[in-house]
Order: sequence, then C-alpha cells, then structure tokens
Amino acid sequence: MKGVILAGGLGTRLYPLTKVTNKHLLPVYDKPMIYYPIQTLINAGIDDILIVTGGNNAGDFLRLLGNGKEFGLKHINYTYQQGEGGIAEALGLAEFFAAGDGVCVVLGDNIIERNIRSAAEAFRKQKQGAKILLKEVPDPHRFGVAELKGDRIVGIEEKPKQPRSKYAVIGIYFYDSTVFDFIKTLKPSERGELEITDVNNRYIGKGTMTYDILDGWWTDAGTFESLLRANQLVAQTGANNL
Ligand code: G1P
Repeated sequence: MKGVILAGGLGTRLYPLTKVTNKHLLPVYDKPMIYYPIQTLINAGIDDILIVTGGNNAGDFLRLLGNGKEFGLKHINYTYQQGEGGIAEALGLAEFFAAGDGVCVVLGDNIIERNIRSAAEAFRKQKQGAKILLKEVPDPHRFGVAELKGDRIVGIEEKPKQPRSKYAVIGIYFYDSTVFDFIKTLKPSERGELEITDVNNRYIGKGTMTYDILDGWWTDAGTFESLLRANQLVAQTGANNL
C-alpha cells in the first residue's frame, strides 16, 4: 500500500495566515503541520509517500522535507495541483504513483493522537474496496457525516445542516486502485470541487466500503478554531503516539 498526503489548496479559511505560505507549513505546537500526516503514514508501516501540493509555495515543501531524512525515509515523491479543484481531484493526480496498488490517503491538516495501524492492517486483508475512519464529534455539521445502520455504513452527507449521526468521516481513507476510475466520472459540487464524499458514496453504493472508529483524539486544522485546538491537543498529549 502506498501513501498519499493531500497538501494543496489555498487555505483561504485561514487568511491572512496563508497569504504568503501554504496552510500545511504553518506551525502546530512544535512542528510544521505536514509533519503529522507524514508520521501517521510511517507509523502505519507506509513509507512510499507522495505529497500533492499546490499554490504559490510548493517549493517550500522540498526545502523543508527534502527526501524525508528526518523521518528515516530515503525518498519522498511530490506532485503539483493547479488551482482549487478539490480533494478528489488532488487524489486523481496520484494515479501514476499508485500504479495499480491500493492507497492510504491523508489530508494534510488532519492530526491524530494515536495511530491507524489496525485499520491499515485490516485494509491490507480486505484487498478490494475502501475503508474510512469515523470519530464521534460534537459538531458533525462541519464534516462529512456517516449514516450508520447496524454495523453498515449506508451513506455520507457532506456538511449537512441536520446530521444523521455524530460520526464525522475523518480525512484518512483507504482505497483500492479503482478509486482512480471513480474520480474520472465525478462532477464538481456546488462549491466547484470534486468531492471525496462522492467517491466514498460510490464505494458505499457498490457495497465495498468498510469503516473503523478511530481510537484517541482527531482534529483538522483548517480554521482558526481547529488550528488552535490542534495546537492545544498536541501540546497536551503529543500526536502520533504508538
Ligand atoms: C474535508 C472533507 C470532509 C471531511 C474533512 C475532514 O472537508 O470534505 O468530508 O470530514 O475534510 O477533515 P474540508 O475540510 O475540506 O472542508
């Protein structure tokens, strides 16, 4: 399984912090934000990693990370997303890198307290389809929200006004290689982007989506409130604990 970190976008929800740098290079306590998703993948035994970035500061990722020596890596792959086409479009750029393998996709602003080792192990055994991770949150309307029936996931709604559960779909996803065919058939949403939720609903429709509940805290860091929370959580307990 290969790893893909999505670190593009213009981070407009964090203006003016993101006027002269990429959101994923901002500090979260004692490290740049992008360090956390890299560690999440490495801790799950995934060391063949592609970073999809974009915007005006893509070169800074190379300057900061190089070939990932600080993480014990020999090499990091990079690619560039033009414009703001959305998470699913960014993932589409990973098709050549994946080269027929399954992928673990991590949004560059998602930080976790512990690890995803058991989910990664379960997906390796699953062999086909997809797996997502859910976390119960007090403010599900901010996220993709899962509708559950028994132990099945029957649908995901993106930022619903009236959420059908308290389970947010976190930004860590496992896909088989058919994900790239799904992405090619997507149409832009109302916000003009190719949505990862549409990809996930395709797998649900085909009956090949599984889910796990994440252990430990999870946060994104794309708004002032969540960035502050991310800093506080990392300062209190540390992130990516094994
Ligand atoms: C994205 C996804 C959403 C998911 C969230 C996790 O939202 O669209 O389904 O719950 O990431 O961080 P965004 O933050 O891009 O609006």
